[in-house]
Formats: sequence, C-alpha cells, structure tokens
Amino acid sequence: MATAVTTQYSHPDLAGEIRAGLLRPGQKELPSKYLYDEIGSELFEVISVLPEYGLTRADQRLLRRHSSEIVSRLKPHVLVAELGSGSGKKTRWLLEALAHTQRTTYCPIEISPTALARCETELGQIESVSIVGFERPYLDGLLAAAARRGEDDHLLVLFLGSTIGNFDRDAGERFLAEVRRILYPGDALLLGTDLEKPLPQLLAAYDDSLGVTAAFNLNLLARINRELGANFDLASFRHEARYNTEHRRVEMHLRSLRDQVVTIPRANCAVPFRKDETIWTESSHKYRLEDISPMAQRNGFRCDAQWLDEKWPFAESLLIAE
Ligand SMILES: C[S@@+](CC[C@H](N)C(=O)[O-])C[C@H]1O[C@@H](n2cnc3c(N)ncnc32)[C@H](O)[C@@H]1O
Repeated sequence: MATAVTTQYSHPDLAGEIRAGLLRPGQKELPSKYLYDEIGSELFEVISVLPEYGLTRADQRLLRRHSSEIVSRLKPHVLVAELGSGSGKKTRWLLEALAHTQRTTYCPIEISPTALARCETELGQIESVSIVGFERPYLDGLLAAAARRGEDDHLLVLFLGSTIGNFDRDAGERFLAEVRRILYPGDALLLGTDLEKPLPQLLAAYDDSLGVTAAFNLNLLARINRELGANFDLASFRHEARYNTEHRRVEMHLRSLRDQVVTIPRANCAVPFRKDETIWTESSHKYRLEDISPMAQRNGFRCDAQWLDEKWPFAESLLIAE
C-alpha cells in the first residue's frame, strides 16, 4: 500500500466564472463544481446517507454484489482511474475484487482536496492497492493517470454516482467522447446512471426533510462570501429543487426572497436580484435504461453489460472502448 498526491489544484477561474454566471443576461447560473469546497464535500457525504437520497445506496449495492463479475469481464493488468471519486467509499468493493487477482494502482481524480483526502484515508489500507491521487479537473486528471499506464495495462475508468447527470445531455456526450479519446481499444468505463422514477421520490432526493441539501446548495453563496469577500445574506435566499420535464432533470436553484444587490469585491462586481429571481446551481439529468447503450455507441464504446438495482432505479453499465 502506498499513497501519493501529485499536483495541487487551485481554482484559477473562480472569480471570473462566478462573475460571468451571475451577470449573464436571463437565468443566473453557477457551475456546480463550486459546490464542493471543504464544507460542501462534507455535506455531500451526509447527503449520501440520507433516507431520501437512495442513489448512493443503489450504486453501492450494485458494486458490492457485482464487483467480481465486473472484474471478470476486464482484460488483465488493470489500472483504475476514478473521475470525481468523492470519498471513494463505494470503490472499495471493486478494488478488493481486483486485489484478488493483481497488484492495483488506483488514481482518484478530484477537484476537492477534502474529498481526495477522505478517499485516500478510506481506501488507503487495502492490501495490494496503491493510491495515486490527482487533485485536478476530470480530463486533466485522466490524462495524468493514463500517462502512468505500463505497456500491458488496461485502463478501467470509473464514473459513478450518476455524476454524468450534472452535464447537460450534449455536454455529457461530448465528455464521454473526450474520455474515449484518452482510452485505448479494450479499455473500460464503468458508468453509473440514475434512472427516471416517480416525481415525489425524485424531488425529495434533492430537498430532504433535514435540510442538508438546502445547506449544501446555500453553502455555495457562503463560499463566495468566504473566498471572494461577497456579502450574500443567506437568509435572503431559499433552496429549491424542481423537475424539468422537457429535459428530464432535477434542477437545484437558489431563490432570492427580496429585491437586493450583492457585492462581490474580489470578482469586481455588484449583482442585482429581483424578488423570486433564481440562481441555477446544479442539474441532475435522469436516464432511461434504453438511452445508455446508444449513447455509448455514439461515443466510441460498446455496452458490454448492465446491472440494475431493484429498489432504486439505477444502472451500472460496463462500456468497452472500441
Ligand atoms: C456528485 S459527487 C459524486 C462523488 C462520488 N463519485 C459518488 O458517487 O458518491 C461529484 C464529485 O466530483 C467532484 N467534481 C466535480 N466537478 C469536478 C471536476 N470538474 N473535476 C474533478 N472533480 C470534480 C466533486 O468534488 C465531487 O466530489
């Protein structure tokens, strides 16, 4: 067992992206990646065990039950890279299954140093597994991980937790194509996707009764206060989860409860809000099982196998690069 974190990543674009998102004409919008600072990453861990948020448990059940079969479908000599690993809790089953057959290098890729540190603690003691973490955005990290492959190695890329759902559908497909460009034929991508389900169940998953998801969302404004010296009054904004039927996605918004102007000194701007205007902070697109194989095909993969959770509609798909 060995762990090493290569480069550190600071958000060079934070001020510019916050400014652009809040001053754009029409719907104000902030990139969801900024939800994950130290507090946001800790809150996400709590969300993942909330009764209303069945998604993580479904993903976990599938990995626990099917890791041996997933591993048996891979070519030998696997190097594992995980996009947006979070705490990596669910990845344990796969790494343990792999460790029965080979010494394994696992490369979690994260922009959140808090999540990466948790992941290294969570998975750092597995026999025959070495961790090399990359504090970088997804594709930079994947390129760095791929550069470590030996001549006979095959990459297994994990993209779990339906994080692909945070991309708009077109952007999600472009992202899959970018991932494919970094892979060789025969490499694999294990993709977790949350499936459509009844509306009350979906909305509750993003608006829980304890208010943890609300805190996760509002923390984005608190983060802008902390890091950019802004004066958001958190009590003047309210968390909202809505379902967009046309795009089949849950959207998280922050609704301004009054007319107000917020100043953000380190982004060099003042942002006016009308009462009831919202900032759109995250999308979680939902999939149909039949969407996944054609989406894989369009982007250079073949769907080799799929596993479904029977309690919470969720799919794990093993895609092989062609
Ligand atoms: C929805 S959470 C999922 C975490 C974990 N994979 C799971 O399934 O529970 C998304 C994770 O991706 C990370 N992340 C978000 N945008 C990223 C980016 N552009 N590059 C690298 N990591 C990112 C976040 O810090 C967060 O830990």
